[in-house]
Amino acid sequence: MLIGPFAQILPMSGLPLKGALQDEQLPVIPDAGVLIADGKIREIGDYKTLAHQFPDEEKLFIDEPMVLLPGFIDCHTHICYGGTRNRDYAMRIAGKSYLEIARAGGGIWDSVTKTRIADTVTLTEGVVARAERHLREGVTTIEVKSGYGLDMANEIKMLQAIRQAGQHTAATLVPTCLAAHMKPRDYEGTEEAYLNWILQELQPVLKAEQLTNRVDIFIEETAFSVPAAATFLKQAMQQGFAATVHADQFSAGGATVAVEAGALSADHLEASTDKEIALLAKSDTVAVVLPGASLGLGMHYAPARKLLNAGACVAIASDWNPGSAPMGDLLIQAAVMSAAEKLSTAEVLSALTFRAAPALQLQHAGQLATGFIADMQAYPTNDYRDILYYQGKMKPAMVWKKGETIR
Ligand code: NIG
Ligand code: FE
Repeated sequence: MLIGPFAQILPMSGLPLKGALQDEQLPVIPDAGVLIADGKIREIGDYKTLAHQFPDEEKLFIDEPMVLLPGFIDCHTHICYGGTRNRDYAMRIAGKSYLEIARAGGGIWDSVTKTRIADTVTLTEGVVARAERHLREGVTTIEVKSGYGLDMANEIKMLQAIRQAGQHTAATLVPTCLAAHMKPRDYEGTEEAYLNWILQELQPVLKAEQLTNRVDIFIEETAFSVPAAATFLKQAMQQGFAATVHADQFSAGGATVAVEAGALSADHLEASTDKEIALLAKSDTVAVVLPGASLGLGMHYAPARKLLNAGACVAIASDWNPGSAPMGDLLIQAAVMSAAEKLSTAEVLSALTFRAAPALQLQHAGQLATGFIADMQAYPTNDYRDILYYQGKMKPAMVWKKGETIR
């Protein structure tokens, strides 16, 4: 099928994976079309040329000005959960800190309690509803973490709910086990013992049931220490799991562990200093910044500008979760952060597409190029700069997943 003409196609291909980008580097194809076969991009280029080359091809004619982009990849979410944390949020905006609320019995543990009493069907429905909202807003691939179960039955329940949700949405869901979100309050041993339980008891089940091949750990004062996390990551990776890390959110330390372990990504980074920035820039670990958490916690953004200048691969994700990042609007968050952090449009759109792909080990996603998956979104404008100009309020008018029309 030939789709077009589009006022502009931004293929997001041929750009460097790491470092600063200027808008002048962004390839923009005017009056463009895209040829789709078997859910993949077959050709991309000038619409009239393609129409001549493939006269017999079925056509989807676009009769209004539209700008076509790859679908966004949200490489960090916690959209599987029970209940709400609106009470936490009200306390926080009234002046209580995230850590104070956590210590007072709110925070992550509150969501654990509410998720443990939710059944699989309810959890599945929640994931599907949030994934469908994301998909309509152009987010075609979504990582989803467990981490509100924190025991065998409930971590498995969450990962099963995520898997079932994947059968009821066209969005691609990538599950990650975050049993190392915090040491559960009802666990009596040390943090090392809890992490060993994950390695020795939980992970073999994840493997056997093929629930996920990814693990995450929250490295922080209120969660897991640097040395315990380093040992955990090494052993998890030896068991064949790919790793991602909640790093440097309130204090530095986690990003260094992530880089040294060879994690796919280090996420948050609000507290990263020049030392962590330099380490990330030299590594293959994707630096994932989460403006939704900064907005939800009323704290400063991660140093995305510095990370890009140093040469890091920077992705932007929503961190959509019931606590620190309830909004879940990836484009609004990226647009708002870019104004504060001084990111170019090229950097922001890269961070939402092909630069997020390696964090999820996706080979053919995040670009519109021959052989890539036809996950695409079209915005109702003739100038791509409008997308960030309207700060995320302009939503895609059309979305395709594997070449199929979603909206
Ligand atoms: O990424 N930082 C730790 N975990 C989540 C918060 C989850 C929650 O508050 O429930 C985060 O911000
Ligand atoms: Fe998170």
